[in-house]
Amino acid sequence: MQNFDYCTPTRLIFGKDSVEKLPEVMKPWKRILLTYGGGNIKKLGLYDKVKELLKDFELYELSGIQPNPKYNPSVLDGVKICKEKNIDVILAVGGGSVLDCSKAIAAGAKYDGETWDLITYKVKAKEALPIVDILTLAATGSEFDCGGVISRTETNDKIGYLDPVLFPVCSILDPVYTFSVSKKQTAAGCADAMNHVMEQYFTSDTTLLNDGFCEAEFKSLMENARACLRNPEDYRARAEMMLCCTYGCNGILSLGNSPSGWPCHAIEHALSAYYDITHGEGLAIITPRWMKHILSDKTIDRFVKYGVNVFGIDKNLDKYEIANKAIDETYKFFESIGIPMHLKDVGIDDSRIDEMAHHIAVNEGLDQAYVPLMEDDIRSILLASL
Ligand code: NZQ
Ligand code: ZN
Repeated sequence: MQNFDYCTPTRLIFGKDSVEKLPEVMKPWKRILLTYGGGNIKKLGLYDKVKELLKDFELYELSGIQPNPKYNPSVLDGVKICKEKNIDVILAVGGGSVLDCSKAIAAGAKYDGETWDLITYKVKAKEALPIVDILTLAATGSEFDCGGVISRTETNDKIGYLDPVLFPVCSILDPVYTFSVSKKQTAAGCADAMNHVMEQYFTSDTTLLNDGFCEAEFKSLMENARACLRNPEDYRARAEMMLCCTYGCNGILSLGNSPSGWPCHAIEHALSAYYDITHGEGLAIITPRWMKHILSDKTIDRFVKYGVNVFGIDKNLDKYEIANKAIDETYKFFESIGIPMHLKDVGIDDSRIDEMAHHIAVNEGLDQAYVPLMEDDIRSILLASL
């Protein structure tokens, strides 16, 4: 078991009508930057609700934050507003993209230089504005972690930016606001969270405790995603889905495990950077191909455990039979919830595979992953995903 030093300082307020606590949460501050995406929060009535609850505060707005949030214009515009209006706190209302963009803004607002230098770790942020969020989509776990993923279109970069100063102060999670999430985004959110758990489960040094947490996550995510797709207004299913996703990405499922290098995320981030695809769909496509690629005598026992404990495959079968069945079950699950399972289905052909494989190999450090991946390995996984 590895040493660790762990702290997640985020307050979670979970459940129906939890948004009513917003004025109390925002009490320490006066000038708020409200950030949101393309308008779903208006359709949900959440925008009006927030304005009503915060009528005694000074409210400024940044709207139009896109999926795979962009450095230019969203982060830059947000930083500008924060500096000009002397903003005290950011209130992010939306999915992971709105939260991630708000985290980069929060850091940039407290820095005199170019925010990109913080995102690329050229400079370490000393502080950030406080962030509060109201989550409307279960997927990324951004509400409970200190990371944000920002895209810079002109350089095909999509960079995961982690810093403890970026933990939200408080995340408000009302599953009712996720009833309206489309089937496509519900499935992609489930695939994203499934992969967050896999990135922690598939590594060399784990504990029984963490394996148990992860296996429960897999089972709950699959069962509740199916229930949400059958009935989008199933409160219990949306609620459990939301909590599973919240736990998925802040490291709590793998305290003491050896690091894995998060290989599928590293590969997917390049796909999103080059083609602006939906993160969870890219992950679902890559995952089974990555699994096939890394299956060997060294990794077989992990796959056997996954297959037996998550999918109930007969433990008396040959080990490779169990492992291959487990990989097939993973593929079939993603397919069954409606995810397109080939890169060509999401508009990606073979024309830039070499370029992406090179970009990933140079920038993502996957030679240090659980199973090290060199440029040729990455190219093979991408080609198998076509
Ligand atoms: O733009 P709006 O109007 O808000 O619509 C969004 C968007 O079109 C919509 N949506 C959100 N809540 C809704 C809703 N539609 C109907 N009803 C609701 N209640 O859904 C669409 C997708 O939203 P987005 O925020 O992009 O999705 P998600 O939460 O999956 O976030 C994906 C981003 O997070 C990053 C991904 O790379 C990607 O850029 N990630 C962030 C992580 C983190 N911070 O820890 C970890 C992840 O691995 C991931 O990389
Ligand atoms: Zn993810």
